[in-house]
Amino acid sequence: MEELVVDLKERSYPIIIKKGLIDEINLEISKIYKGKKIFILTDKNVDAHYGDKIKSNLVNEGYNVKLMVLEPGEETKSFNTLPLIYNELLDFKFTRSDLIITLGGGVIGDLGGFVASTFLRGVPFVQIPTSLLAQVDSSVGGKVAVDLERGKNLVGSFYHPKLVLIDPNVLETLSDRFFTDGMAEVIKYGCIKDKEFFYFLKSLKTKKEVMNNIEKIIHKCCFIKKCVVENDEKDTGERMLLNFGHTLGHAIETYYNFKKFTHGEAVAIGMYEISKISEEKGISEKGISQDIKEILIQYGLPYEVEIEDNSKILDTISLDKKNIDNVLKVVLLKRIGDSFLEKTDVKFFS
Ligand code: GLY
Repeated sequence: MEELVVDLKERSYPIIIKKGLIDEINLEISKIYKGKKIFILTDKNVDAHYGDKIKSNLVNEGYNVKLMVLEPGEETKSFNTLPLIYNELLDFKFTRSDLIITLGGGVIGDLGGFVASTFLRGVPFVQIPTSLLAQVDSSVGGKVAVDLERGKNLVGSFYHPKLVLIDPNVLETLSDRFFTDGMAEVIKYGCIKDKEFFYFLKSLKTKKEVMNNIEKIIHKCCFIKKCVVENDEKDTGERMLLNFGHTLGHAIETYYNFKKFTHGEAVAIGMYEISKISEEKGISEKGISQDIKEILIQYGLPYEVEIEDNSKILDTISLDKKNIDNVLKVVLLKRIGDSFLEKTDVKFFS
């Protein structure tokens, strides 16, 4: 499979996607890193499966490795976790010529990436994403962040890794719910950029069939994402298309205090609902929302939710960071695979 490179001139980096890669991390790291110290940031769940193996492979390769294991879950991605990690790095006498590896899902990738972007004004890091969501989305493109009490991802930066290592085999240890969660973002790529990919996903009838094609699926998503990031690294234009379904999805997540739906589930509802609205307004091709509904059902994702108090959803949308001076940029589809940004306002959803 063709190796992907995110082409950002002097900040370019490869994305390597290969089954079994988790057993060869030492080989890939030794190709790009000639220093001594490696600090691995991970969480308890991922550590239980891969922590020791990766650490001992790197130690056998001659590296001095420290592993820091955090609690799993979004609470860990807090601004308050930062000093704990900076202190571990200081105790390890970590310098700017050493390397951080983030081994985990989106929480660890975003948090560890933010640490890398700020510690000593920036140190190199490598992403090893272990959830489907992180493999197809958050590990690529350099968005790193932590949460404040008043909201998610409120402190962050654009800071790219030196390398992204993706082993689809690690998805075998992911729960069905979180595999499905990632599939919502996979489906999103088909919706916004690639009709053929959308219908290919629709042709896969079982998880086994999906897993038989998982390298190809991840490769396609990372290819779409890297092209978008190359065109609009700082998220002022085309990159916003990646937010398809996210405005409403984020409002739904917030309404339920991030407890009822995973991110992917909320995005799934957002993708269906916005397509239904834009189809009713005559903006999207007829039948598009039915197509999206069918694929979401097929992958075990929700497509709608009964909300008692709609005004709370509208309030949250009006506070969305994409709503600037009452102009809300939403992502709409003309047809499957053909997306665009529409300037509207919160009334679009009412
Ligand atoms: N997850 C959307 C982006 O990276 O822009």
